[in-house]
Amino acid sequence: MFSHYPSTSRLGFPVCGRPLIVAHRGSSGTFPEHTPLAYEAALSDGADGIECDIRVTADEKLVCCHDRDLQRTSSGSGSIERHSLAELLRLDWGSHRENLPPGGRQLLTFDGFLDMARGADRPVALFIETKHPSDHGRRVERLLLESLRRHGVGTPREPQLYPILMSFSAFAVRRLRASGLPTATLSKRGLALRLKDAVAGSSALIGPRYGRLAADPELVPTWQARGRAVNAWTVNQPERVRQCIEWGVDAITTNFPGMARTEMVRMSESVPRAHEAQRDGTKRNPQPERDNAEQQGGR
Ligand code: G3P
Ligand code: CA
Repeated sequence: MFSHYPSTSRLGFPVCGRPLIVAHRGSSGTFPEHTPLAYEAALSDGADGIECDIRVTADEKLVCCHDRDLQRTSSGSGSIERHSLAELLRLDWGSHRENLPPGGRQLLTFDGFLDMARGADRPVALFIETKHPSDHGRRVERLLLESLRRHGVGTPREPQLYPILMSFSAFAVRRLRASGLPTATLSKRGLALRLKDAVAGSSALIGPRYGRLAADPELVPTWQARGRAVNAWTVNQPERVRQCIEWGVDAITTNFPGMARTEMVRMSESVPRAHEAQRDGTKRNPQPERDNAEQQGGR
């Protein structure tokens, strides 16, 4: 699609010549994050991958949820880790919204997340992030790896699923690497990313936030030369999608996968002009925009 992209994805995912589109907590810009409705929308919006955050309940079940506290995303309060799965399933996970279609008010378990991906009619990349700090400590990774093994994810039993295991905690990434599955090291800051990468070991992918790349787009070829694919998050505006494509990132994580896809199609039609501009030395090099993730609870 874009001639400056490799002919196959650096992540081994069967997409050619463009970045992967990864739906951040599902199509969470449109529907309540991490709900079945948000993931159903992501898959019908044309996302290549779906992202989820993993937390552990009091009775050691894996659920998809970003915050440790229940307040922002559900009708409950207190720590998610102090509630049993049965208690969490009784909460309203779309309590801040009206008139939601079915599936918009349910907690999604990790098993449910895998079932949704399995139900897709195409390969799906699974960007799975373990959250720390956690009362359960390293058990989060242990339970996740057990679950993936039980479901055959990352084996020929599930050829359509492409897992990538991520964390902001370099020690968690190191634990995840023991599985032999591809891992990703996440960071909000460039220096921290280098330190974490040294601790975590060679991940398949590194995930800097968009604002970090905007401050230094040369990070993309630098990390790619070290054999890492680059995933930018969270990219929610068309102009930022365009910018990521110009930088050559391998994956774009967004709350609006439909918007990202539309923008990629639109941009692929104007690629010759963009390249001419590059040759003439007139390629835009915009000032870093303020990353609105900083204002929205890390989103
Ligand atoms: O994929 C990376 C992104 O999800 C990290 O940020 O805070 O949304 O988990 P956060
Ligand atoms: Ca996440």
